[in-house]
Amino acid sequence: MLERIAIYPGSFDPITNGHVGIIQRSLRIFDRVVVGVLRNISKKPLFNVEERSAMIQETFLDEPRVEVDTFEGLLVTYAEQKGAVAIVRGLRAIADFEYELQMSNMNRRLAPEVTTIFLMAEDRHAYISSSLIKEVAALGGDVHGLVPPSVEHRLMAALQTKR
Ligand code: COA
Repeated sequence: MLERIAIYPGSFDPITNGHVGIIQRSLRIFDRVVVGVLRNISKKPLFNVEERSAMIQETFLDEPRVEVDTFEGLLVTYAEQKGAVAIVRGLRAIADFEYELQMSNMNRRLAPEVTTIFLMAEDRHAYISSSLIKEVAALGGDVHGLVPPSVEHRLMAALQTKR
């Protein structure tokens, strides 16, 4: 039988428990989820693409249905290369909607056979973003429970070397 593959794209600088929740729920719908880490992000990243990928890999070590990969260029071209039927995006609040609608419409125009699926973020993760996590951690705030353990460790190490 044909595998149903979804791409979950993003910059993941770093992955948060919000992203983790979206990946776990996608696994209930799809046979395999490819987490596509964007190589050249416009925002200046704290972690390079290898570190960002490693943190996702460490988080899903026990889940063989999650593949962590990197990509650059058009998302839909990458999705087609991977044989994906869907792109998964998480919506946290109404503020995410407009940007996501724009992207999904453009992606549908470019590749009508790849469907964008939106999953609502859980309430407890709705306020998390990677930037907020980095800011809170840099100012000495506690991010325990908001990011996977491997991210917590790397975040502390990265911020200590920056000081
Ligand atoms: N829980 C917690 N945080 C979440 C989240 C969730 N469920 N979903 C999104 N976020 C946060 C991210 O942490 C990130 O936070 P930050 O801005 O503080 O770093 C923010 O929301 C943006 O999300 P992200 O998934 O990282 O998206 P992005 O805007 O960086 O990347 C791509 C979006 C990769 C899908 C888009 O840029 C893309 O497709 N690029 C490829 C080029 C292309 O095809 N362009 C044409 C598109 S039509």
